[in-house]
Amino acid sequence: EKGGYSSFMAKEIMDQPQAVADTLLGRYDVEGNLTLDELRIDEAVLRSVDKIVVLAAGTSSYAGMVAKYAIEHWCRIPVEVELSSEFRYRDPVVNARTLVVAISQSGETMDTIMALRHAREQGAKVVAICNTHGSTIPRESDAALYTHAGPEIAVASTKAFLAQITACYLLGLYLARLRGNKFDDEIREIVGQLQAMPDKIQKVLDGLEQVRTMARWMADTRSVLFLGRHVGFPVAMEGALKLKELAYIHAEGFAAGELKHGPIALIEPGQAVFVIVPSPRGRDSLHAKVVSNIQEINARGARTIVIAEEGDTDVVPYASEVIYVPQTPTLLAPLVTVVPLQVFACELATAKGLDVDQPRNLAKSVTVE
Ligand code: M6R
Repeated sequence: EKGGYSSFMAKEIMDQPQAVADTLLGRYDVEGNLTLDELRIDEAVLRSVDKIVVLAAGTSSYAGMVAKYAIEHWCRIPVEVELSSEFRYRDPVVNARTLVVAISQSGETMDTIMALRHAREQGAKVVAICNTHGSTIPRESDAALYTHAGPEIAVASTKAFLAQITACYLLGLYLARLRGNKFDDEIREIVGQLQAMPDKIQKVLDGLEQVRTMARWMADTRSVLFLGRHVGFPVAMEGALKLKELAYIHAEGFAAGELKHGPIALIEPGQAVFVIVPSPRGRDSLHAKVVSNIQEINARGARTIVIAEEGDTDVVPYASEVIYVPQTPTLLAPLVTVVPLQVFACELATAKGLDVDQPRNLAKSVTVE
């Protein structure tokens, strides 16, 4: 069952190129036109949507945060991402023009079920992005867009996360075309770039010895920080969650721009900090800002572990380690940048002798509120 791997999680990490490829499969034609037949919501309703609310928990909520950056950019529709457990307790503003996207690997997360019921009572349409056919969340939704990651056994989510992000991109591109926000050519180009992602993920997986060695050295670490910006922010949150769940190490993810608003006080000599660096080819000088964050924490003695795009030499002077990932368009980068963080957590937990498939106190699906 584990296919020769030491854990289901180790196997599921390696299955990720396939999970992304399978989630893309059959959802566009040879010309790159999207065909989301499963999205059985009236096109007129989808055109009239004036707000999207993503509801999810844990790792699935970080897929939702990535979706926010992509969907707002492509569709020009405001997107809110809310933890399912908070949603119905704050009297949210939801109506018939709201599209709710409920993201769940298991389809049985009670917080998300209760949140989507509340949204539907207010008249919102709900699309489920789910990995489990016939589970409660897609059954109770107006439409389901399934992720085709295959069964995920390990408690910590990995391949389902990449498949969720992929499904969110497809949904965003579909809505962009439907609403006429983007020209077909642009959408086709992004679809082409998406098709190239499984090979890029494979390339990351083929070069992970450096991360594994580092994780083994760091088995005694007591605290690790993760910094990211733009779509690197949810990746930082996910890196921290993986490390908490699997290795029981205190870990926090921050938006890199928030560093000076508080978290920099945590930096002391030897503090391990992962930094997810945006592409130097991106707009808005974000790359330079994150490089300057690395410089600041390096000057305070932090051990900086930098995840950067191949060819990015600007980070080298301030990095204790640089982990390179293939070049990707900015919005698609999470599919490659999160992989070293998953492997780091899995390897470190394994080095500590922990059961990575069944971390203490956790269940694969959380069926109570
Ligand atoms: O099945 P779901 O996607 O609804 O689960 C949501 C969270 O419980 C889940 O992602 C959890 O955070 C994982 N253990 C993360 O690895």
